[in-house]
Amino acid sequence: MVLEQVGIGIAVTGTGSAIPAVSLSNDGLSQIVETSDEWISSRTGIRHRRLAVPAESLAKLSAEAAKAAIATAHLTPMDIDLILLATSTPDDLFGTACLVQAELGATKAVAFDLTAACSGFVFGMVTAAQFIRAGAYQNVVLIGADVLSRWVDWSDRRTCVLFGDGAGAVVMQPNERDRLLGFELRSDGTQNHFLNLAFQPRPKELLRGTTVGQGTFHPITMNGQEVYRFAVRRVPEVIEKALFRANLTIADVDWLLLHQANQRILDAVGDRLKIPAEKVISNLAKYGNTSAASIPLALDEEVRQGKVKAGDTIVSAGFGAGLTWGATVFQWGR
Ligand code: UT7
Repeated sequence: MVLEQVGIGIAVTGTGSAIPAVSLSNDGLSQIVETSDEWISSRTGIRHRRLAVPAESLAKLSAEAAKAAIATAHLTPMDIDLILLATSTPDDLFGTACLVQAELGATKAVAFDLTAACSGFVFGMVTAAQFIRAGAYQNVVLIGADVLSRWVDWSDRRTCVLFGDGAGAVVMQPNERDRLLGFELRSDGTQNHFLNLAFQPRPKELLRGTTVGQGTFHPITMNGQEVYRFAVRRVPEVIEKALFRANLTIADVDWLLLHQANQRILDAVGDRLKIPAEKVISNLAKYGNTSAASIPLALDEEVRQGKVKAGDTIVSAGFGAGLTWGATVFQWGR
């Protein structure tokens, strides 16, 4: 897992993002469930979230983010070899990445979905890196996108106040100098029940003795306190491991880019790692928790604002349903 030993270096050369136009404030939410701006902002840091209207698709949002990332990398869709779409809210359970490929006109690219909930982008970055290092693909678009508004129980104030919709993307390419310095990925299915969006089958008897399960997915259920505890304990561990593999220390970190779930989690992880608050990237006041989109969406904003600069060292960590969690250490640009 010390990536540089394998040979081909990796660079993250483009970023892009897309968000739905409709915004819902905490005050708006308090007309839907019994809550308040005070409760939501003090417990989570979230003030607004974007929501996809029914006509908006995950594929369209994803393609918009990918287009912007491809343009930043000075490529065209025809140059793309692989499209990886990290999502838990596909337009089509058979996969949405092919719809993104069609939307982009990236006819040369092979495209598939990857599901690891809010860790999807981090898991996707490591997956994309394997294809590049193996020499199989050169120009990879990795998208993190989710429309959790489709799957939130809008009568459950414990969850519906947290989530929003969005998409973010990066382009990854081979590079002489390796900019993906280390990673650590983890999973623990024994804690799946703390956060899930599970299929709920109803028995349907086809013939006597032949019954299948039919139905749909149950809206998100979550034990918020357990997920909070898990994140604050486990995320610093994987960050320290990824830094160790990269042969770096906390002092080398320019930016801590965590999955944007809760400001209190960002603060607690930053405190535990002794990373100063000004190095902790946060945009969740504007977008809430956008699941697989949150890391690339925040990265794109920081790059476009000129805060994250070429060569800056970023420690990125995702965590969430599965349970899954993981961290990557990379430097932006060639
Ligand atoms: O991608 C990973 C996704 N998940 C997460 O990141 C979740 C991690 N967990 C959290 O962020 C926090 O646990 C929450 C923000 C979800 C909840 O914060 P908390 O400080 O753990 O609150 P709590 O669940 O202990 O609830 C405290 C009180 C309860 O009332 P009682 O029982 O003390 O009377 C809740 O019923 O707050 C109540 N409450 C609310 N009140 C107003 C829960 N949700 C709301 C709400 N508005 N939206």
